[in-house]
Amino acid sequence: MPMVGLGVFKVPPRKTKDCVLAALKQGYRLIDTAQTYNNEKEVGEAIRESGIPRKDIFVTTKIFLPDYSYEGAQKATKRSLDALGLNYIDLMLLHQPMADYMGAWRGLEKMYNEGACKAIGMSNCFPNVVADMCETKSIKIKPMVNQVEMHPFNQQELNLKTMKNYGIVPEAWAPLNEGKRNFFKNAILTEIGKKYGKTAAQVALRWNIQRDVIVIPKSDEEYQLKENINIFDFKLSDDDMKKIATMDIGHSEIVDLLNPEFVKYVHNFKY
Ligand SMILES: NC(=O)c1ccc[n+]([C@@H]2O[C@H](COP(=O)([O-])OP(=O)(O)OC[C@H]3O[C@@H](n4cnc5c(N)ncnc54)[C@H](OP(=O)(O)O)[C@@H]3O)[C@@H](O)[C@H]2O)c1
Repeated sequence: MPMVGLGVFKVPPRKTKDCVLAALKQGYRLIDTAQTYNNEKEVGEAIRESGIPRKDIFVTTKIFLPDYSYEGAQKATKRSLDALGLNYIDLMLLHQPMADYMGAWRGLEKMYNEGACKAIGMSNCFPNVVADMCETKSIKIKPMVNQVEMHPFNQQELNLKTMKNYGIVPEAWAPLNEGKRNFFKNAILTEIGKKYGKTAAQVALRWNIQRDVIVIPKSDEEYQLKENINIFDFKLSDDDMKKIATMDIGHSEIVDLLNPEFVKYVHNFKY
């Protein structure tokens, strides 16, 4: 699985094909979409149009609550395969650990065993849910990836440790905190970046890479796409890593997963 990918949340369908093609041209080989993003079709079109061999591109998508059951997850996987126009998905995730996600997980296990998905995983699991799924004896296949919000302001060290203990690959959504808290002008990230000729965004992405966390920053600007993947020619020092550790505020400012109102919103979300 590549360490850097392109996320296409909020990339409108009419812009998605060009955005994915631009990213593939810059060297991206991981594309992260979801049924709720309504742009799987355009992601598939870009992959075919790029001429890059299918086996060299890692495609992640996600299914959502209305499809959470043993049968529903299988049907939804087939729907994603049709929309993407692919005959396998590299990584299928359950978007939120809510409703009948255990039933849906069993459906994904079947899809994995049949080869429709090369890997299966979860998203938005806090460490208690990670441990619960991994300790549940009737679950035959442990989640392979957990995609959660992770950036210098929300570092999730316990979650990271828990994933590592269970052999789950951590993947960071919103690795740039969606620009919140004046992210791209942050003094600590900018100051560290100056030493290496890198931007605050590049320092933040590199910091996650050095924690063995995969990053999927979203951008539909060509120069930012280039910037976000150009993070393999420098290494943050232990001192840099310690300075970034002080930025953690210990919770999300994007979404409060524990808020009952948010749970209600997710259950009623239309896409
Ligand atoms: N599993 C989940 O529940 C979940 C939730 C949220 C996101 N995700 C995934 O994670 C991906 C990334 O998260 P995200 O889109 O929420 O947030 P993000 O990647 O942290 O931030 C995206 C924002 O940062 C800007 N940006 C990107 N690169 C930049 C750079 N080098 N310099 C300055 N600005 C830059 C983008 O601007 P422009 O748009 O102008 O380029 C956009 O406004 C999503 O696309 C999606 O695939 C998953």
